Amino acid sequence: MTRSSRIEGFYKLGMSERLRIVKEFGDLTDDEAMALAGFGGLDPSVPDKMIENAVGSFPLPLGIAVNFLVNDRDFLIPMAIEEPSVVAAASNAARMARERGGFWTSSTAPVMIGQVQLTGIKDPSRAKHMILERKHEILELANKQDPMLIKLGGGARDLEVRVIHTQKGPNVVVHLLVDVRDAMGANAVNTMAEAVAPLVESMAGGKVRLRILSNLATHRLARARAVWAKDAVGGEEVVDGVIEAYMFAEADPFRCATHNKGIMNGVDAVILATGNDTRAIEAGAPAYAARSGAYKPLTTFEKTPEGDLVGTIELPMAVGLVGGATKVHPVAKACIKLLGVKTAQELGEIVAAVGLAQNFAALRALATEGIQKGHMTLHARNIVASVGCPPELVDEVCRIIVAERKIRMDRAQEVVEELKRKKK
Ligand code: MEV
Repeated sequence: MTRSSRIEGFYKLGMSERLRIVKEFGDLTDDEAMALAGFGGLDPSVPDKMIENAVGSFPLPLGIAVNFLVNDRDFLIPMAIEEPSVVAAASNAARMARERGGFWTSSTAPVMIGQVQLTGIKDPSRAKHMILERKHEILELANKQDPMLIKLGGGARDLEVRVIHTQKGPNVVVHLLVDVRDAMGANAVNTMAEAVAPLVESMAGGKVRLRILSNLATHRLARARAVWAKDAVGGEEVVDGVIEAYMFAEADPFRCATHNKGIMNGVDAVILATGNDTRAIEAGAPAYAARSGAYKPLTTFEKTPEGDLVGTIELPMAVGLVGGATKVHPVAKACIKLLGVKTAQELGEIVAAVGLAQNFAALRALATEGIQKGHMTLHARNIVASVGCPPELVDEVCRIIVAERKIRMDRAQEVVEELKRKKK
């Protein structure tokens, strides 16, 4: 079956019709589709397996971003998020990118960093070299901890040793670089870091303190790139507006925080929908954005020689497809199946593409009509629905109360009654 994610008017359909389309696209079973629909919520046994002291679960809306073409393949993107406009904005940005082929992605191998901290070392440079000279022993010991990971083609690959200066004197910090394949990697890396710590201590002297993964996953990056045709985005003025918006973020940390927040709207929504660790991603992204010592945007925007807009993104991407919630949470499992990704790297690249799309959509709106118009339309739909408006009148009532800038329940009710009278 050739499947396109370009679905015109998806937003106008009812929830059950949308679900039917998604089920067919993702070749989902009835149970998987039911899980996406959230009917009945999580089985009580699931939260109790996931965390301690569970008393229930906390449902969030799950939306599907349409129109995504990534590396020549169509994707429907599951997004779990409470904020209106995010799913619509991602879908719009993806639609506009299709004209120039959608998104193109790349990533590094899934290598995480495990840190071992050594304190109380008088001669840190000597200690550093002594550890590096015996790197193979350390890697060998690390790799004995996880035979399954080795079988899957992962394992500890290399070692870096840094000397840092703290208020209590120098620390020697060992970075164990571990290819964690399709895991998020925290368990594998922490186990290895703890296992090699006594050996490292015996080599270098001093005292081992922390042994833990770093969320600044600089060896595990996901990237995406897209070109938006000048005419598809509204002309040269819009292209220039987006570039100037990006330059603003480049030059000003106050703006940059909001710029990057817009990216994370998309990133977190997919991370959450796929049962991944939003906090790990949220910790890594701003640290990576500040890696030069100044806080910068995670995206770039430039003009091509043809006058089109090209956007790129690069960010750390500690995501997994095995372990954690990804394998026990029925909604996350169905979302991963819908995405059709087979490796964590592939998932990370899709997430990067969504982050870029989200950022482009926000900058385009901000550089043109502002974001409130879109927000208000959605807000109006909520208000209109809450006054019990017949479905065939919803669009018209929304249009009227938005145009009047009276997005209130009393006015919505009045307009519904007026239209009902007129249509009699
Ligand atoms: C709102 O959730 C996100 C934006 O503020 C992002 C941005 O300003 O770029 C619209």
